[in-house]
Amino acid sequence: MESVLTNRVLDEDTFETSIRPDSIDEYIGQTEVKENLKVFIEAAKMRDETLDHVLLYGPPGLGKTTLAFIIANELGKNIKTASGPSIEKSGDLAAILSTLEPGDVLFIDEIHRMPRFIEEILYPAMEDFTLDIIVGSDGNSRNIKIDLPPFTLVGATTRVGDLSSPLRDRFGIVSKLRYYTVEELQEIIKRTSRVLDVTIDEDASLELAKRSRGTPRIANRLFKRTRDFALVKGNGSIDLEITKHALDKLGVDEMGLDEVDISLLKAIIYKFNGGPVGVDALSASIGEEVSTIEDVYEPYLLQMGFLKRTSRGRMVTKEAYDHLKIDHQEELI
Ligand SMILES: Nc1ncnc2c1ncn2[C@@H]1O[C@H](COP(=O)(O)OP(=O)(O)OP(=O)(O)O)[C@@H](O)[C@H]1O
Ligand SMILES: [Mg+2]
Repeated sequence: MESVLTNRVLDEDTFETSIRPDSIDEYIGQTEVKENLKVFIEAAKMRDETLDHVLLYGPPGLGKTTLAFIIANELGKNIKTASGPSIEKSGDLAAILSTLEPGDVLFIDEIHRMPRFIEEILYPAMEDFTLDIIVGSDGNSRNIKIDLPPFTLVGATTRVGDLSSPLRDRFGIVSKLRYYTVEELQEIIKRTSRVLDVTIDEDASLELAKRSRGTPRIANRLFKRTRDFALVKGNGSIDLEITKHALDKLGVDEMGLDEVDISLLKAIIYKFNGGPVGVDALSASIGEEVSTIEDVYEPYLLQMGFLKRTSRGRMVTKEAYDHLKIDHQEELI
């Protein structure tokens, strides 16, 4: 018998795959990125050539992995996936590359976390579709060169600044994913509810969209939890009342800020006098990793205008004081 944990993981996986759009037309929002990709994919198909390498970057949960799978689908090719930190030895990379068929997509997630020496093996593979590796050890090592079929590398990262410039320069297509608008998120929530056959009222989907911090993954997660509340506390369909109740229980405020966002802002206000404060001190103060603060929390708080970055560190804004209903000194801008 499978453990509860395995079952739960399986459930999450099924949920993910059932709601993940698999064609470019089903992919909501990111209009510019989508329109450009459509042209490049179409042109590659017309010329019967391999699509140029694609780099997708942006905050977590905006649809990079989803888009990588869509690119392969639209090209009508297979996709092989790997993640930066899992490629530790040149042999790991060689093993993945040797499974590729002509025109296939190789998706490397978290590509900024690939070791530097692996990057150096990847350069010629991306440029000339050859693999130069050293086999054997010390006195007995030799260089071997393997020809690879032409392929498209799709790299995804939340930290494009951490990529070395030679690697970045080898991507012919570089696309930045942006936070979604409320309307787009509402459309995503409605789509998810259709796929999962759950009824949701217009004002309820709008409320969920407003509180999803511009992120489809969060929209789907909040939808899922609200669906649970609707089932247990209501009649299974989602209305505004049950949505507000669920969001309240989940600790998500009207602007979509969760407990960590709020503790981050409050730490700057109460412990650092509104800032400026360095990210290390902030990390120690709220017990979240520096990378989590930088990749997950800050981008949205900056976007909402609750936080600003100065040369001396992070500062909260007047809007943050107002939102949290905390008095602020007059001189604060
Ligand atoms: N444009 C979109 N339209 C509809 N659903 C989307 C869209 N983008 C993402 N989603 C949904 O949001 C969820 C998260 O997307 P995905 O896993 O692709 O994000 P990601 O950018 O790869 O995140 P991470 O950086 O954490 O790997 C998925 O469930 C996916 O179905
Ligand atoms: Mg991903």
